Amino acid sequence: MRHNERIGFGSKLGAILAAAGSAVGLGNIWRFPYEVGNHGGAAFILIYLGCVFILGVPIMIAEFVVGRKAKASTGEAFNVLAPKTPWKWVGYLGVLTGFLILGYYSVVAGWTLEYIFQALSGSFLGSAEGDFVTLFKNFSTHPLRPLVCLLVFVLATHWVVVRGVQKGIERSSKLLMPLLFALILILAVCAVMLPGAEKGIRFLLQPDFSKLDSEVFLGAMGQAFFSLSLGMGCLSTYASYFGKESRLAHTAVSVGLIDTFVAVLAGLIIFPAAFSVGISPDSGPSLVFITLPNIFHQAFAGIPLIGYVCSVLFYLLLALAALTSTISLHEVSTAFLHEKFHFSRIKAARLVTAGSLLIGIVSSLSLGCWSGYQIAGLNFFDALDFLTAKIMLPLSAILIAIFVGWYLDKRLVKDEITNKGSLSMPLYPVYSFILRYVAPVGITLIFINELGWL
Ligand code: TRP
Repeated sequence: MRHNERIGFGSKLGAILAAAGSAVGLGNIWRFPYEVGNHGGAAFILIYLGCVFILGVPIMIAEFVVGRKAKASTGEAFNVLAPKTPWKWVGYLGVLTGFLILGYYSVVAGWTLEYIFQALSGSFLGSAEGDFVTLFKNFSTHPLRPLVCLLVFVLATHWVVVRGVQKGIERSSKLLMPLLFALILILAVCAVMLPGAEKGIRFLLQPDFSKLDSEVFLGAMGQAFFSLSLGMGCLSTYASYFGKESRLAHTAVSVGLIDTFVAVLAGLIIFPAAFSVGISPDSGPSLVFITLPNIFHQAFAGIPLIGYVCSVLFYLLLALAALTSTISLHEVSTAFLHEKFHFSRIKAARLVTAGSLLIGIVSSLSLGCWSGYQIAGLNFFDALDFLTAKIMLPLSAILIAIFVGWYLDKRLVKDEITNKGSLSMPLYPVYSFILRYVAPVGITLIFINELGWL
């Protein structure tokens, strides 16, 4: 792909929604609730919000600057802006991180397909058996079924990426995001009306600071980066498709707000439902896949047809939200192999697909028959999640902040953010201060704290 051949997003709104499509995914609806559950609820959410708006949004703007200025995907963007310097390794680190995330993320994305199938066959209706803990356990530890789902999902991602994604991404994001919003809102209303839901709402909204430990900060920061698709150049690759008139700061704030809104609403669905049926909020990655079927089962027991439609639609949209995220992850590695080694796009995409399938298979089996093999007390799936979200993403984020805050020419950065001075940015000095000092120091402190040196 030569740079001048790049097709851009058609409109500013399209650009916002495509970036939001990458950001909104399993991170919001699957990972956020279980991280909140593991870290004790509302206090975690407050720290999370701080991480999103104080660290996340400014770093997102920095990624946008890199991508739109370089007009190249992450793997090459640092090379373009800082030729013949070691900064290229930041790009390569991003590509590796995205590739690893793609591997285990696709496993969970595959689960959504099984749940579409279950929803279609009526397993969540009021008349069904209702033992969703066993349903999930049997499925996720089965040696074959999750692998078939994984394969189908990875192939779907491959199919879209090979066909070029801009029109597909932009158009589908415009249609799907509002639909997902509406459905999540309906489900949140249903969940808070379940008997015993108050406990869940309290857990979500009433902070208990005695539950805070040093891990909470790393957890919240990792979740913020993961959920916003930050720290590996995913959004900078998308920004290379932005038009001249896109407003970078405005886009970043919009994506931050949309992403946070969906995550908090997902919490408002999951926790009231979990408390209502007595499922522990810290039950980890299985949380969403157990509580949601319960909502369909119980809240819609009297109106089975609506329950049926909502359950099918929900998993369908979850799968599509996951797909817009896997596409963005896949695109980073594919574009890198294509630009760097001059493989054809098809060959590049095939290599990425094969590699992510391999990582996906090992991750998936590590939840079942290979759960005995552990790395530092974690199975392969959890170890990959820890390594990428809590170490690699924050590490790259520090480097991106330093690159844009200190290395790049200040005028270039300001021109890019203000569209050559045509936008007024009264908060620019605050932004610059955050990028240069708060983000690198803050992230480093959180790391040191986690390692127990503070
Ligand atoms: N943000 C997506 C989600 O919440 C996942 C994702 C897509 C991602 N691209 C990323 C996470 C880049 C980290 C980095 O589901």
